[in-house]
Amino acid sequence: MAQNTNNSMMKDIQEVLLSEEKLQQIVQDIGAQISRDYEGKKLLMVSILKGSVVFMADLMRAITIPCRIDFMAVSSYGSGAKTSGVVKIIKDLDIPLEGYDLLIVEDILDSGMTLSYIVDMLKSRGPRSIRICTLFDKPERRMAEVKATYVGTQVPDAFIVGYGLDYDERYRNLPFVGILKPEVYGE
Ligand code: IMP
Ligand code: MG
Repeated sequence: MAQNTNNSMMKDIQEVLLSEEKLQQIVQDIGAQISRDYEGKKLLMVSILKGSVVFMADLMRAITIPCRIDFMAVSSYGSGAKTSGVVKIIKDLDIPLEGYDLLIVEDILDSGMTLSYIVDMLKSRGPRSIRICTLFDKPERRMAEVKATYVGTQVPDAFIVGYGLDYDERYRNLPFVGILKPEVYGE
């Protein structure tokens, strides 16, 4: 693929999974769907930092109805590639949730441990409704019971980076999504 051949991060990428163009197509489609479904509702999009920041920035501009945004930071991965099952709130929301139709925006639904914890916690704050929108889904890795209403696309059980997704805080700025070479994370 011609894309980013002079990008020094490319040497760590085994294969480009989704091009910039393909990602934009996916995001536009979800944006149109959300705009239809949330017409007349009080939409609050909550992005889970930091992985979903790039997706959130594109998705909110693909939404044609009024909406508010907020951010929450949790940690579940540390700096490694495997989930720890431990979820810690690092930054909480600014907006009280009563009366809002909450849409949680996530980068990737993997074991589901992170989101199942977040959904339970946010439900207790009394939003009118709560749904999940995830760009990527790895269904075969699911450990916790979590269902996303909006899913961009399923991805294989490989470690992917780019378009916000990181390994050890790197590669988030790649404009496409690629499979990271296993030797980069020592397997
Ligand atoms: P879960 O609790 O296992 O569902 O973890 C979800 C979080 O793990 C995501 O928000 C990502 O930050 C991270 N994650 C899971 N799989 C990947 C991947 O393939 N690449 C980068 N981050 C990942
Ligand atoms: Mg994340």
